[in-house]
Amino acid sequence: MSKRHEGRTMLVTGAAGAIGFATCEILVREGARVMMVDIDREGLEKRAAELGDAAIAHVADVSDEEATRGYAKAALDVFGHVDGFFNNAGIEGTLAPTHEYPVDEFDKVLRVNLRGMFLGLRYVLPDMVRRGRGAVVNTASIGSERGLAGACAYNAAKHGAVGLTRTAASEVAQKGVRVNCVMPGVIETPLLVGMLEQMFDSVEAGMEKLGQTATLNRVGQPREVGDVVSFLLSDEASYVNGAKWEIDGGALATIRNDV
Ligand SMILES: NC(=O)c1ccc[n+]([C@@H]2O[C@H](COP(=O)([O-])OP(=O)(O)OC[C@H]3O[C@@H](n4cnc5c(N)ncnc54)[C@H](O)[C@@H]3O)[C@@H](O)[C@H]2O)c1
Repeated sequence: MSKRHEGRTMLVTGAAGAIGFATCEILVREGARVMMVDIDREGLEKRAAELGDAAIAHVADVSDEEATRGYAKAALDVFGHVDGFFNNAGIEGTLAPTHEYPVDEFDKVLRVNLRGMFLGLRYVLPDMVRRGRGAVVNTASIGSERGLAGACAYNAAKHGAVGLTRTAASEVAQKGVRVNCVMPGVIETPLLVGMLEQMFDSVEAGMEKLGQTATLNRVGQPREVGDVVSFLLSDEASYVNGAKWEIDGGALATIRNDV
């Protein structure tokens, strides 16, 4: 049986991070070549080296317009075209109540998580539209659906991620391009640890407590997000467009009344 992404080319931002890298690993295993984009040069080069010849590292700040234009162009220069784009880089930001939230921090989180996502769409979609083929997955969050106390900037950006997804999906579908988003729940990554450090006395206790918000009673693993992203970027998802895919162990599906 041929591999799902054999001969395909992929672009992944936040690729040095947990979800981004887990997804790159899956895409490469399924036959793709991947351009990995991240602001963290050291982490990116190390991670790209783990994937061998199938991966190319490109350092860029996704919130910067020139840098975004740069990674989109670099992918075309190297691959000729991009079949799948995982628009995933993000930061958690400081946690504080909205009425005390540092204004510069709000700007910073929106700049990376929302403007960065827009810029990715702005500069990667044109060639897909020209070619009449492509798939995009944006990383939203369960914070796109609920208010997470202390995370006004993150939540606002992630609600915006759904708006960007739906808008772009409605614009490019008839040009052969699909745009969807994933909504990870509590996934065990450095970003989650950064949040838990601000919320709980111990990261382990926080992990256990938040794991209980899921019907599956545990936190998720980056690979469990990557598998869904790989599907959404594949032709098997050919009738999926403008959708929000919850990858949260059932957290949004229910109010736990047994914990
Ligand atoms: N971990 C979770 O529980 C969770 C839940 C919902 C959504 N998410 C989302 O998943 C995505 C990936 O996060 P993760 O959990 O893998 O965290 P992570 O911290 O492991 O990865 C994020 C990556 O993004 C990179 N990055 C940050 N700012 C950047 C910038 N300006 N330009 C380029 N790269 C930049 C970081 O260097 C890092 O490698 C994020 O959008 C995050 O909001 C995570």
